[in-house]
Parts: sequence; C-alpha cells; structure tokens
Amino acid sequence: MDLVRVENRGTGLALLTIANPPVNALAAPVRAGLAEAIVAVGRDPSVRAIVIAADGKAFVAGADIGEFGKPPVSPSLPDLLQIIEQSEKPVVAAIQGVAFGGGFELALACHGRIVGPDARLGLPEIKLGLIPGAGGTQRLPRLLGAAPAFAMMLDGKPVNAFKALALGLVDQLADGDLLAAANAYALELADAGQSPQVRTRVGRFTTEDRADFEAAAAEAIRRSPKLPNVAALAEAVRAAMDLPFDEGLAVERARFLSLVDDPTSKALRHVFFAERAAGRIPGIGKEVKARPIAQAAVIGAGTMGGGIAMSFAEAGIPVTLIEVEEAALQTGLGRVRANYEASCKRGSLSVEDMKKRLGLIRGAVGLEAAADADVIVEAAFEEMGVKAGIFGALDRIAKPGAILATNTSYLDVNAIAACTSRPADVVGLHFFSPANIMRLLEVVRGAETAPDVLVTSFELGRKLGKLPVIVGVCHGFVGNRILAKRSQAAERLLLAGALPHEIDAAVTDFGFRMGPFAMADLAGQDIGWRVRKATGARAPVSDALCEMGRFGQKTGRGFYLYPEGARKGTRDPETEALIARLSEEQGIARRSFTPDEIIARLFYPMVNEGAKILEEGIAARASDIDLIWINGYNWPAFTGGPMHWADGIGFDRIVAALDEIATETGEDSLRPTALLRRLAESGEVLANVVAL
Ligand code: 3HC
Repeated sequence: MDLVRVENRGTGLALLTIANPPVNALAAPVRAGLAEAIVAVGRDPSVRAIVIAADGKAFVAGADIGEFGKPPVSPSLPDLLQIIEQSEKPVVAAIQGVAFGGGFELALACHGRIVGPDARLGLPEIKLGLIPGAGGTQRLPRLLGAAPAFAMMLDGKPVNAFKALALGLVDQLADGDLLAAANAYALELADAGQSPQVRTRVGRFTTEDRADFEAAAAEAIRRSPKLPNVAALAEAVRAAMDLPFDEGLAVERARFLSLVDDPTSKALRHVFFAERAAGRIPGIGKEVKARPIAQAAVIGAGTMGGGIAMSFAEAGIPVTLIEVEEAALQTGLGRVRANYEASCKRGSLSVEDMKKRLGLIRGAVGLEAAADADVIVEAAFEEMGVKAGIFGALDRIAKPGAILATNTSYLDVNAIAACTSRPADVVGLHFFSPANIMRLLEVVRGAETAPDVLVTSFELGRKLGKLPVIVGVCHGFVGNRILAKRSQAAERLLLAGALPHEIDAAVTDFGFRMGPFAMADLAGQDIGWRVRKATGARAPVSDALCEMGRFGQKTGRGFYLYPEGARKGTRDPETEALIARLSEEQGIARRSFTPDEIIARLFYPMVNEGAKILEEGIAARASDIDLIWINGYNWPAFTGGPMHWADGIGFDRIVAALDEIATETGEDSLRPTALLRRLAESGEVLANVVAL
C-alpha cells in the first residue's frame, strides 16, 4: 500500500496525501514516500506548487514513536524537512486535526500552513522525555520568540486553530474546503514569482525575550532535576538565539538523539504505549458495544461519593447524590459546593461553569431516587453488611440494564454481586481520592460481570477524564494490594534501623512527591488503623502511634510533628524513641541503611507482589500495574512504573535481594514468586509477560 499518494491536479498543482492510519505517524516509508514525491514533482515542469495533506482525522501525530531506539532508516525526518524546505516550488501544509511533534515540525518546514477549524498544533515531545528533534526548537522560537516558544514546548500542550492563527503559527484558517484553500494559497505563492522564503528560518530575539527565557529555563530546570530533557530543551532554544540556523539544528539533533537512549525517555515511551494497551480488555472484542449512560446516581455523599458526583457533573452527566438522611446529604452537598467555590476563588473555574455543574448534581434521600439511573455507583461505608444491604435494595429498585457499581477499595466484588439477582450488571469502579481529580480508575471485573458492562465502564471512565485499568477480584485489587506490601516493608525498615525521615527522603529522591510516612500523616493514620483492626493486621509502629492519638497532621503529631498547623512535618524525638524501643522489644539490632538499600527493601517486595498479581491473572499486563501506580500512587512516570523499573534492574539482582531479606527477617512471604525466579533464570523481562 502506498503511504503517500501523489496526484498531479493538472492546474500546476501537485497534491501529496499521507495515508498511514490511524494517525499518519511519520514512519520510514512515509518519509521515503514524501521525499521521493517532492523530488519527482520538483522535476515535473507541469507542477508549480505543492500541497501536503493527510487522510483521516489527524494530519500527522508526529514521528513514529515505535521506531525510536531502533536502527535509523533514511531518510531521517530532518533530511526530509530539508528537502521540503529547499524545494524551489512552494510547499503548503493543509492541516486538519492534530499536527503534533514531527507533524507540526513538518508543517513548520513548509513555505505555508493552512489549518481547518479542528486543527490542533503542538510539540508534546517533552512528555515522552524528549525534545522536538526535527527543527521545532529552532523554528518555533523564530516565529513566537524564545520565551513563549520555550513555554509551549515545556508544557507540551497544543494550541487550537484560532490560537495558532492569532500567534502567527499558521497563515490562514480555512472555514470551508481546506484542500481548495491550500491549493489556492500554494498557487498564489508560486505566482508571487520569487523562490519561496521559509519564514521559520529567520527570527530576531529581543533582550527582554532572552531574559524572560533565561528566567523560565532556570526555574524549569530547578523544578525538574530528574528530567534531562528540560535542560536539553533550554540548551536547544538558547542555540536558536545564539547560533546560525543550521548549527542550532545540529545542537537540537544531538540532544534529541542522546535523549532517545536515555532511561527517562524509554520509561515515558513505555507509559505512552502502556496507556494505549490498557484500553484493550482481555477477551473482549470491538463488537461489544457500550450501554448508553444518560443519568447517574451515587450512593453516599461522603468525600468519595461527592468527588465521584463531581466527576459526573464535570463530564456533563446529570447525577443524583443519595444519602440515608437529610443532614448527611446537606453536609455532602455543602462540601461539593465549597470545593467548587474554592476553585472559583483560585480562578481555575468560572462561576458560570460552577453553576452548570451544580445544576447537574441533585441531592436525594433514599435509594428509590436511583430508579432512573443508567449507572449507580455505591460509595457507602466500607463494610460488607452495609454494601450487601444497598445492593439487595438496588436489585429491587434499579431499572433493568442499569450498571450497579461499587467503589469498594478492598471488599469482594463477587460477594457484593451475589447480593443481587443480576451479578452480570455488577462491576467495581474503584476511584481514588480526591475522585474528581485523580486520574486512575480500577475497573474490577467480577466473575460474572458482563462484557458490555466492562466496555461501558471503560467508555464512561474515559468520559470522566479517567484512565480505566482492568483488574480482577482480590483483597485490595492491584493498587492497594501492592501498597500494603510497601507499608509492611516500611514498618520493617523502621524496626530494622531506618528512621521515618530517612525513608521518606529516599523515596522523594527516587521521584515521588511524598514519602510513605509524610503521606500517612497527611491522609490520617486512623484510616489504616481501622482497616488493620478489622482485618487483624499489625503495623507495630503505626499502631503504637495511633494508640497515642497521633493520627498525623490533623492531630498535629504523627510520624512527624506539625506545630501550629504546619503542613511540613519535622522530626520528633518521641517517635524516634518509640521506634527504638519497639526494635529492642523485638530483639532487633538496629543498623543504618543507605538510600539504595531503603529503595530495594521498600520496592522489591512490591515488584514481587506485582508478579504474583500477574501469575494470578488479577492484572492483565505488567504495564497495567505500572499505570496504576503512576496514576493512583504518584510513582514517578519517568521511571516507567514499578514493573518497568524492575525490568531495568534485572531479576537476578531482585531475586537475590528478596531471598536475602526473607532469610534475614524470617518472612517467607518475601520469597520471590515463581515468575520472578523464572525471569531471573531466563534473563527475560516482565514487559513481555501477559497474564492468562
Ligand atoms: N507514533 C506511533 N504510534 C502512534 C503515534 C506516534 N506518534 N501516535 C499515536 N500512535 C498510535 C497509538 O499507539 C495507537 O495505537 P494502537 O491503536 O495500536 O494502540 C493509535 O495510534 C491511536 O492512538 P490513540 O489511541 O492515542 O488515539 P487518540 O485518537 O486518542 O489520540 C493522538 C490520537 C492525539 C494523536 C495521540 O495518539 C497522541 O497524542 N499521540 C502522540 C503524539 C506525540 O507524542 N507526538 C510526538 C512524537 S515524537 C516526535 O514527533 C519527535 C520529533 O520531534 C522528531
């Protein structure tokens, strides 16, 4: 199949159409096709002007990300863009939909650019741990100025057609027939007579712009010390100001190529493909269609229920928030309103949008109010008896075909489904707190959950702006089950000799925004304590702190001290003495741990649990576990998630370390699972492991 079609329109115009579905990525055959076509039509005396267009919804989504890290195939994208730029016949890009990354760079190398109203232009390479590698860092600053171009490449967000026109990124916005407008414009440029000038080669930088850029660059580098592409971006933009165009291009290219091999970019590319893979639910094909969702209900107006209701409202879905009695309902509705008012005050929400959202949230007392809902999300108290009562009643009340979802964090979704006569309609929708903000949604597949209920849950999740990931039924599902392993490991480390601030520092140095103890203090330790008491689990240090009423920030004391409402804790000799006493009581000789040892002891047991989860088929792929931890628990994306990170370490090392810790602590549950031992022997990686 030809990925680039060439048509001589007979009016002096050649139309080159990229046809590489689904998003016209600039894979090697596309680059070769375009290069050949430009040369060929350049030689054709009947052609005076050239238009590059593309089939489908997107113009070009960029370079082919799947090619990165593989041996290069010529022509490279910079080579192709040079051929386009040097064409003696004007080349105009006709852009519909997205022109991202290399796609936007392709357009920037053309002599003219025309967009349709649905166009979105951007350089999102930063999100892949890269920088633009085909002239973006040189051409965009020449069009926009260094500081605005740096800002646009740093956040990676696209601009729409209207903004692109206003900024001068494009020459025209075509309301009607995009191709006709592009053809006319290309011929107009040809008629102008001179050889076409590429505007994006020339630029002037003011002293003020340079100063703004330098300030923004210094701040960005300070904020992202672990991301080498941020410093590389600054360097490339600086080269755009200081060096002749071709030398600047060479700086950009060298930085780009070294970033492609950097572990942070490999990890972020892994995350990109992981997000796409997560959309595929094992055993369910495209023929399964979603059920329509026009009306939702949420049961329980606590923090979680309120947040879920806000999510529905933000997606434009009317939702009824249900409580058992009026006072609790009013408190819940009041909390929702206060949240929105705070956003308005911060300026992140307009009063008009707040009114719209509040208008979509109706409060009601009694489960009967869920009768009209197409999806009902139960977010009531985390106790089986409570859930059983609710689902039994919903079975009577809900309309046929309604999806009955539970937001349980730990309980058995199959047991909840068994409280109804329609277990096929029951699913777990595990939101994370705050539910209107956090992106992760664990979709818990019960033994009898119907395929179309899962497809609907995914579609709904995406509509709510979430990243849905499929998980199976077990205590804590994927995220919390692995979290429990980290919590146990953290307690073990405390008793063995590390102090809370040392463990937290190792974890934040690794890239988390917060360490486990600062997090526990922020969330409130009483929640975990209650769960442990209910399940008979023990956490010696945390339990002792809770018994002393030290629940964390809200009581001014937890693992750390928070004098006068401070948000950042300080070390507390009382906590440290308590830990030392507990070590002594357990006969443990305390010793010190390096940050690397702390990380290994905290995270290897999590990797082991992840492998068990894969063995049991609770997660569909290792990359799903990565997404869950990145989006629900703040695991740093630039390491790719726990399983990708482990792949990079090698399982021979991880297995040996786990065996050593298990022997030292006498905890057989820490022994490496069979899957890890197999990987250690074969030298394979988890990325290739698909659960059955
Ligand atoms: N390379 C390779 N594959 C790509 C791709 C790319 N640049 N962009 C999208 N795809 C693939 C996806 O993996 C997916 O494949 P699958 O169906 O097999 O899972 C398919 O195209 C459809 O993608 P989405 O599911 O994401 O479709 P959406 O319609 O939701 O989104 C999109 C489309 C907005 C284009 C989104 O895919 C996207 O943002 N893509 C990445 C854009 C990007 O980062 N571009 C920069 C690339 S790096 C670069 O250009 C370097 C240059 O400077 C040298």
